[in-house]
Amino acid sequence: MLLERESKYFTPSFDRLYPLFSEEVVGATIKDVDGRSYIDFSSGSGSQPLGGSHPELVEVIRDKAGKLGHISFPYLNEATVELSEKLAKITPGNYDKRVCFGTSGAEAVEGAFKLARYYTKRQLCISFLGAHSGHETMGALSLCGHYAGQRAGFHPVVPGVIHVPYAYCYRCAYKLEYPSCELWCAEYIEENILSTIAPPEDIAAVFVEPMQGPGGMVVPPPEYHKILKNVCEKYGILYLADEIVTGLGRTGRMWGIEHYDVEPDIIISAKGLGGGMFPISAFVARAEVMSWPAGVHSATYPGHPLGCAIASRTIEIIERDRLAERAARLGDYLLKRCREVRDKHGIVGDVRGKGLFAGIEVIKNAEKREPAPRETALVAYRAFQKGLALQFDGLKLNVLKLYPPLTIMDEELDQGLTILDESISDVERGRVSLPDLPAAYLTVTGYR
Ligand SMILES: Cc1ncc(COP(=O)(O)O)c(C=O)c1O
Repeated sequence: MLLERESKYFTPSFDRLYPLFSEEVVGATIKDVDGRSYIDFSSGSGSQPLGGSHPELVEVIRDKAGKLGHISFPYLNEATVELSEKLAKITPGNYDKRVCFGTSGAEAVEGAFKLARYYTKRQLCISFLGAHSGHETMGALSLCGHYAGQRAGFHPVVPGVIHVPYAYCYRCAYKLEYPSCELWCAEYIEENILSTIAPPEDIAAVFVEPMQGPGGMVVPPPEYHKILKNVCEKYGILYLADEIVTGLGRTGRMWGIEHYDVEPDIIISAKGLGGGMFPISAFVARAEVMSWPAGVHSATYPGHPLGCAIASRTIEIIERDRLAERAARLGDYLLKRCREVRDKHGIVGDVRGKGLFAGIEVIKNAEKREPAPRETALVAYRAFQKGLALQFDGLKLNVLKLYPPLTIMDEELDQGLTILDESISDVERGRVSLPDLPAAYLTVTGYR
């Protein structure tokens, strides 16, 4: 049986939710090895904005793989140049830019981290509680502010990263309320961090997700990023936007940071960039910032011609089919339905989102907003039983993440939301119990 073989041979370090062994992912439908279908509300952890196996991407692979499967630097190819040009054009900021590639999100974060230090000749970075930057490399891990379990056993991580609370209004670290808080979480950095432990002249960069994904689908208030950016500009600190989840149309704009009218110095993209077909990531910087010399940062696979061709076509499809606008429209509907769900169920505390990037916070009681991670896992499990692939995460492991492909059909979205509603009802009524699964299952960290 696959479950036994998987548990015996595959690393236990990867989180599993429920035993969904997929055979086929086409559009927003996952089919498992037993022929059961699931509506996909998580787009391959955000990597499939166009759903699974988009036919035009399959065509690119068919067309290109037989001719130029790969060529590594120092040799060049047109697809890499074309994608660099495209990314420079579609990212915010009307100035010259340069683009560097990686294979995973963590690798791009890592590269951007190196670049920020190299360019500024400064050592410190600011990151956020709830941040997820990738945890397969030490640099990215050191920027993460997610679960203690991701760090336990790995210290010392890369030194010089200072974490501050994010604008997570539902669980404000300062116990304040928006808007009377006057964005204290953003002001705090200059008022308290730069004046004490982190002299601004030593800070290379602020790494920030426009909206935190794995940290709980957290959408900061509209003024938040402007305040951060102003502090950066004042002290010559680079502002880096991690758009690995929020980019490429997901939030209703091409880039999540466009909702905040801020131009980052460096933008990081991954996940959906490869259309769910190819592992490719990129970081795009002002040309003056990415002026490091030959030999200081390169590798064998980044800039892979097939990956670049797939990414270019992915961007073209997102633009041509106006998928950001579609995400905005479907997202409004999704939020409306989720708010109805919240009004019906005592265990739903908060509903938030932008476009097809949304979260539902599951709680034990409304008064104290006590997180309910067990019930969250139960809802995800029940949804799985009923044919909906749903993930959960968040600082308190109690946020159901709703981020279906941007191409999901209206009826599929509707049906998925109905399953979600029913699953929450079933858990509320005590009709669901946790199954007997190997330890790696129904965790998001292996550290419950
Ligand atoms: C915001 C964010 N940044 C970085 C990463 C790391 O990407 P990868 O898993 O491709 O290394 C993730 C992954 O979930 C992410 O959500």
